[in-house]
Amino acid sequence: MTIVPVSLGERSYEVRIEAGLLDRAGAALAPYASGRPFLVISDEHVARAQWPRLKASLDAAGLSAELVTLPAGESTKSWQHLEALTDRMIAHGIERRDHVIALGGGVIGDLVGFAASIVKRGCNFIQIPTTLLSQVDSSVGGKTAINSRAGKNLLGAFHQPALVLIDPDTLDTLAPREVRAGYAEVIKYGLIDDAAFFEWCEANGSRLMAGEAEARAHAIARSVAAKAAIVAEDERETSGRRALLNLGHTFGHALEAETGFSERLLHGEGVAAGMALAFGYSVRRGECPADDAARVVAHLRTVGLPASLAEAGVTASGARLVEHMLHDKKMAGGTLPFLLARGIGQTYLAKDVDLADVAAYLDGA
Ligand code: GLY
Repeated sequence: MTIVPVSLGERSYEVRIEAGLLDRAGAALAPYASGRPFLVISDEHVARAQWPRLKASLDAAGLSAELVTLPAGESTKSWQHLEALTDRMIAHGIERRDHVIALGGGVIGDLVGFAASIVKRGCNFIQIPTTLLSQVDSSVGGKTAINSRAGKNLLGAFHQPALVLIDPDTLDTLAPREVRAGYAEVIKYGLIDDAAFFEWCEANGSRLMAGEAEARAHAIARSVAAKAAIVAEDERETSGRRALLNLGHTFGHALEAETGFSERLLHGEGVAAGMALAFGYSVRRGECPADDAARVVAHLRTVGLPASLAEAGVTASGARLVEHMLHDKKMAGGTLPFLLARGIGQTYLAKDVDLADVAAYLDGA
């Protein structure tokens, strides 16, 4: 088993990563049991595939649990489901010292984490992420949220989990397109500040996509370690360090908005094309070697991720895409933080980006 510590003083916790871990989760969860059964929150798809494994391991450890099943999909991150879930938690008698369990992808993790942050002014929660995207990104670091009518993730809180259990075997039942989209966030860690890891991705990304256990476990562990280091330095995204995790997200947000935040372009696919555009724009500014941008595009294409506007299915003008960016919650002080690159593994926060120039670049991209 790989154990990655997330060092946050009294909010510190472990991320445990091991193939087959879900079948042994009961033993890992035993120290967190109270007198009440665990409340496990999942969605219909994940519950069908993974709940029997978790339930069997809880039974084997002599622990009881009640399952709450919510609809699968982004629309579950809503006031309506938050209200129903918090009502259920209160009816269950949840106390602050109790731990609720999120079994699922980013939607379930974000919703359960936010519910845990407000019930009784904050109770504990444990993440058991079952998608690659949630395993390498959203389950670690304590960002929790639901969506508002005005946009995604606009209502939320920083609330760290008490434990994260990652079983890469849960990816066996995930659609290949979802695995691929999650892999964009893996590549991101190499592009941010770890050129050697990007080289590893170039050499091993296809093995990971093919489901090879060793490649999967290595990619998840290295990604989680990278995220844990950044979160430990800048938990609430105040110093600029955690903002590096948004590489590709500002361009990607515009592409997701243009495609209606729909199945047409998954979040990870938007991030993939967004990272290619961020590197392309960095080349235009004379800051990044063209060869590095070409390597990024080539690797995204090798694994079947979109690496251009056309591949993301977007034909909008640069001006329209910039307009979408201006509605991104990452706006700060009336400006947009752009993550650009001086090369692979050399991402930085650019504060002098001219939006008219970005629009002109996108028109030619
Ligand atoms: N997914 C970006 C972050 O956790 O900061």
